[in-house]
Amino acid sequence: MNGHALRKCLHILSLLLMTGLLFSCRGKGTLEDSSREGLILGFSQIGAESAWRKCNTSSVKEAAEEAGVQLLFENAEQKQENQIKALRSFIVYQVDVIAFVPIVADGWDNVLKEAKDAGIPVLITDRKINTADPSLYAGFIGTDSKQEGREGARFLLKKFAGTEKVRIVEIQGTEGSSVAIGRSEGFREELEGHDEFEIIHSVSGDFLRSRGYELMRDILKRHDHIDVIYSHNDGMTLGVLDALRETNLIPGKDIVIVTIDAEQAAIDALIRGEVNCVIECNPKMGPAIIDLAEKLSRGESIPPLQHVRETVFTEYDDLSSIEPRGY
Ligand code: AHR
Repeated sequence: MNGHALRKCLHILSLLLMTGLLFSCRGKGTLEDSSREGLILGFSQIGAESAWRKCNTSSVKEAAEEAGVQLLFENAEQKQENQIKALRSFIVYQVDVIAFVPIVADGWDNVLKEAKDAGIPVLITDRKINTADPSLYAGFIGTDSKQEGREGARFLLKKFAGTEKVRIVEIQGTEGSSVAIGRSEGFREELEGHDEFEIIHSVSGDFLRSRGYELMRDILKRHDHIDVIYSHNDGMTLGVLDALRETNLIPGKDIVIVTIDAEQAAIDALIRGEVNCVIECNPKMGPAIIDLAEKLSRGESIPPLQHVRETVFTEYDDLSSIEPRGY
């Protein structure tokens, strides 16, 4: 261990002892590791609620490993308070860059101000935040959730052209998350002026398959006639399909299904005709996140807003050439 690394280690140790924030000294983000030269990136992930999320996490971990970046990874288990704690621990740890997926859009200003005061640049990824002060973070890379919502509505406008009445059930993602808000807003904006489309029921399923199943069972009891399920992620859609299998309704025929993420399981359901439209949300952002973090650590500026490339797969397309999804 060279002198610089040793000093950094001792400094970190004293800060951790002072604050009691010793958890980051265990497991993967260890003091031992921090003796390595190079970029230290603190990454706060929201959890492992879906196959999409697990792929997103692997993508970040693999890209960090490949680039020789030391990753301090924290899983917030779906709680904003855990994320705030993780960000504070990264500040205490004096990481070079912080990246995080904000579980909800509001409530980040204080901790981001602390990072700014500590001179640590912050990259926001996947989900966006609401703040009156955009100087609190360096940039965003992630999905364009409003566009995803618009794509879902565009598919329905084509599918139901000339139909007098279309009753839609919307199963939203986590309440207060930018992706649930964007997917709802974009969908509604695109359907505006098309009064034949009515959202008869809208409820949050928290991006969980188990909730998709429970909600669909409940919704079927409340509504005799449903034309469309618009689900904010594939996990919940798979739960919806599980519930529909317990009925005589044929998914994809009796009820049109629009879903977001493009997990392999959803693409397989599209090929089987049980789902009608799959909108890709791209989780493989690891390499871009690491590239941006490296730029930030060198003091370079990065674009304030970058949306990742995403595709739409529908029953009207040639589905024989879709590459295996890997999630
Ligand atoms: O923020 C992206 C969303 O979060 C994905 O659509 C969903 O599957 C995930 O859990």
